[in-house]
Amino acid sequence: PSANGVVDTGRDFVASLKLSGKKIAIFYGSQTGTAEDYGTRIAKEAKARFGLSSLVCDPEDYDFDNLDAVPDDCLVIFCLATYGEGEPTDNAVQLMEFLKEDPQFSNGDKLDNLRYVVFGLGNSTYEYFNAMARNIDDRLTQLGAKRVGPRGEGDDDKSMEEDYLAWKDDMFAAVQSELGWEEGAGGDVADFEVTELDEVDDAKLYLGELSARALTGTRGVFDAKNPYAAPLTQAKELFEDGDRNCIFAEFDITDSGIRYQTGDHVGVWPVNPEVEVERMLSILGLQDKRSKAIDVKSLDPALAKVPFPVPTTYETMFRNYLDISAPASRQSVGSFAKYAPTPEAKAMLEKLGSDKAYYHETAGAKCLRLSEVLMLAAGDAPSATPTPWSIPVDRIIGAIHRLQPRYYSISSSPKLHPNAIHVTAVVLKYEPVPGANKVFGVGTNYLLNLKQAANGTPPSAREDGAPVYALDGPRGKYKKHDKLAAPIHVRRSNFRLPTSPKVPIVMVGPGTGVAPFRGFIQDRVALARKAREKDGPDALKDWGTIDLFYGCRRSTWDFLYRAEWDEYAKELDGKFRLHVALSREEGQPKVYVQQLLREEGDRIGQALVQQKGYAYICGDAGSMAKAVERELATILGKAKGGSDEDGEKELKLLKDRNRLLLDVWS
Ligand code: FAD
Ligand code: 2AM
Repeated sequence: PSANGVVDTGRDFVASLKLSGKKIAIFYGSQTGTAEDYGTRIAKEAKARFGLSSLVCDPEDYDFDNLDAVPDDCLVIFCLATYGEGEPTDNAVQLMEFLKEDPQFSNGDKLDNLRYVVFGLGNSTYEYFNAMARNIDDRLTQLGAKRVGPRGEGDDDKSMEEDYLAWKDDMFAAVQSELGWEEGAGGDVADFEVTELDEVDDAKLYLGELSARALTGTRGVFDAKNPYAAPLTQAKELFEDGDRNCIFAEFDITDSGIRYQTGDHVGVWPVNPEVEVERMLSILGLQDKRSKAIDVKSLDPALAKVPFPVPTTYETMFRNYLDISAPASRQSVGSFAKYAPTPEAKAMLEKLGSDKAYYHETAGAKCLRLSEVLMLAAGDAPSATPTPWSIPVDRIIGAIHRLQPRYYSISSSPKLHPNAIHVTAVVLKYEPVPGANKVFGVGTNYLLNLKQAANGTPPSAREDGAPVYALDGPRGKYKKHDKLAAPIHVRRSNFRLPTSPKVPIVMVGPGTGVAPFRGFIQDRVALARKAREKDGPDALKDWGTIDLFYGCRRSTWDFLYRAEWDEYAKELDGKFRLHVALSREEGQPKVYVQQLLREEGDRIGQALVQQKGYAYICGDAGSMAKAVERELATILGKAKGGSDEDGEKELKLLKDRNRLLLDVWS
């Protein structure tokens, strides 16, 4: 066995299954870790219920030419996310490519022995809903394999969690009868072992650092595994209209070695609010041991990885590493019933775990976090110190995901700002159902606190209940040159401008959807300055048109970067036109971006079809992006001299050729 206890068989997962005596291989196609989490949960349940160990695998690490050699008493589970326009996650590209072509299997050409099931993670607001799960399912069946349980299709637009729970129950029942698995063979097993350490070298203790390099202070490449603590050089409100506000943040990347391109995303790593950290410490009775150093070991490294670096402390674990602010899942809540402080609390948790409607009404619809559910069950008032529960820390680690970075479309161009990354973020605050407590988005309220601190006001509890965060970072490291810093990394995107400025571009981005387009325009401004230096005042005469369709509520409320657009237009010699749709302007009818697009339809159609222009949509992945696509299809149909149907085809063609690009989120 290799160091982590897994039998090392290289890229041969079948050999690995056989040598380790495991009966299940679970492949996850995961970009941000969600599919991987579900994969691990399936493995845990198979172990607890049937005593069966699984190999939980990153498909990138294995070859698939021996899929025909999987023994017929084994099960292969694919847990695959679909991205954007029906694309696989990066780590599933090779798997999908292999199956798509004419796959050559090591023992023959059919998969008659292969037993498999599929769970897909998708979003029904996208056209190619769960394409990866559907494709692999169809393909494996074509190749002779047998699906031995239902295909699950999780929908992030509704409730991925409930889709998963419903699917896995049906799946386990079907597989159990097909493969003769025996219930009760497993028992309740812990995934992790937590040890309190009496002596620990302070220099080796993780106090919020996200990588070993960050801990030791060694320089190196900054990426998602090793984010850079970027000083916040500017932060301000772009608007504040009573209940809503939007933040502009500038991070300094001087001397970091970080490079970005116009259209990339930046990941910002938040921490959890202090109130939430304190509640979790109280619930677990750890207030007095908050700084105690702990080590965490996985009892089955193939099944569950320790989700954060160790050794660390209880307090750091809750503040920096575990996603304790997310709405509590029904399954995890149910699993804590046996640790309840009272019979009433136990009964409530059991009911929450087993009764979907009751869970939805009591916790789900109100987006209650784990601490809130436990406090409610124990009869604690929301502002009280929570009643302690006897939940072992290892169970908490097993049930809660790792805190993830939040992504933002970079609002600057490196051509104008090579040493800075700009973020445009609307601060998330919502009332999930009327009368429920407000929910404050973790990442954006962290940014809000950073903004307040950067401007000299130490964060304090706000009237609206917005939480307070600890901002100094591990050992005060997030204070650089008297500036606060936040860990960031850049993620490449395919949201790119055409290289030649002669190609017309049409950008549609209402609200924060305008974020990357500010970068796009800055990019063209930088190019214009250079062109003029070289070719004189007429340098832009052959340039294509640059149309930006922007929408906000009122010209005086939430008009983002209002003062900047005229300046850009001047520098771009009138090639740039801003079209503003105001949806709540006093005394005016409601106007959305798609209406303005329609009004300019002939010209836009000409730019996209005859002049082979590029179109971009950014912002709300739901109704806005769909409505804009419909409008574009109509425009394209007309430009081709045909019907709406021709327009749909043209739209698809533009997408396939990367001339219609989307940067959307929900
Ligand atoms: P979280 O604590 O993560 O909470 C968000 C979650 O709350 C949502 O996933 C949803 O489940 C839930 N939620 C939200 N509203 C409601 C509601 N009304 N009712 C019930 N539940 C609700 N954001 C920007 O502001 N600017 C950008 O430029 C930008 N670019 C992005 C680019 C990409 C590629 C992606 C994926 C996202 C982008 N986002 C952008 C969104 C951003 O990443 C965060 O999701 C957003 O800022 C909220 O983060 P948070 O941590 O404050 O909220
Ligand atoms: P509303 O909130 O007044 O309905 C940025 O959020 C802007 O996008 C706002 O003016 C908002 O209008 C508008 N918006 C909301 N839904 C939209 C949709 N489906 N299509 C286009 N714009 C929309």
